[in-house]
Amino acid sequence: MMKRISELVTAMAKREWHKNVDSKSIHQRCYTMLMCLVFGLFGAGAAHGAGTDPLADAVARGHQLFTTHTFQGSGRTCESCHHAGGRGPTVLPNGVRKPSIAGAASYFPRFNPRVGHLVTLEDQVRRCVAGGLQGQPPAYDSAEMRAMIAYLTSLSQGKVIDMGGRPK
Ligand code: HEC
Repeated sequence: MMKRISELVTAMAKREWHKNVDSKSIHQRCYTMLMCLVFGLFGAGAAHGAGTDPLADAVARGHQLFTTHTFQGSGRTCESCHHAGGRGPTVLPNGVRKPSIAGAASYFPRFNPRVGHLVTLEDQVRRCVAGGLQGQPPAYDSAEMRAMIAYLTSLSQGKVIDMGGRPK
């Protein structure tokens, strides 16, 4: 083995290796190595960016808002009434229990007779922030609203759309 290596080194030193490897194939090898390097770096970049999925990020942010944010209100969060991140039952401060809101994105928008017009999911978020949280409702065109809608919609993933329907 050592003998073979030393022979190779000697041959290279004498530049005999040129005889076996033509320059075209050297270029090809260099090119292949360069491409491996470039794609390797790209691959590492893609792997690094794997944690930045905008939709997953919005859902995660929405979950955080739902469970921790008070919207400068009285101290309640969405979860104070809509238990288990909205997947559990709704339990009002007076103890009245209502169904889970997990399917809300599948049956909104719907007509709310008490309001007198159609209510979208965004409208409902603002109503609950103003009423339930006594807080400052997020603007329709805000990152907070987008995150909240992404989160609420994620709770309804896979449910059959039943626009205007009731919780089930
Ligand atoms: C003080 C309690 C309370 C808090 C806090 C609260 N809500 Fe509500 N929420 C309600 C009530 C009451 C309803 C109407 C439920 C019903 O009538 O079935 C409702 C309804 C909803 C609905 C529609 C579900 C349906 O079937 O009507 C969504 C979506 C919703 N809330 C989201 C939120 C979000 C998001 C937050 C936090 C920003 C929040 N809520 C905070 C009490 C609350």
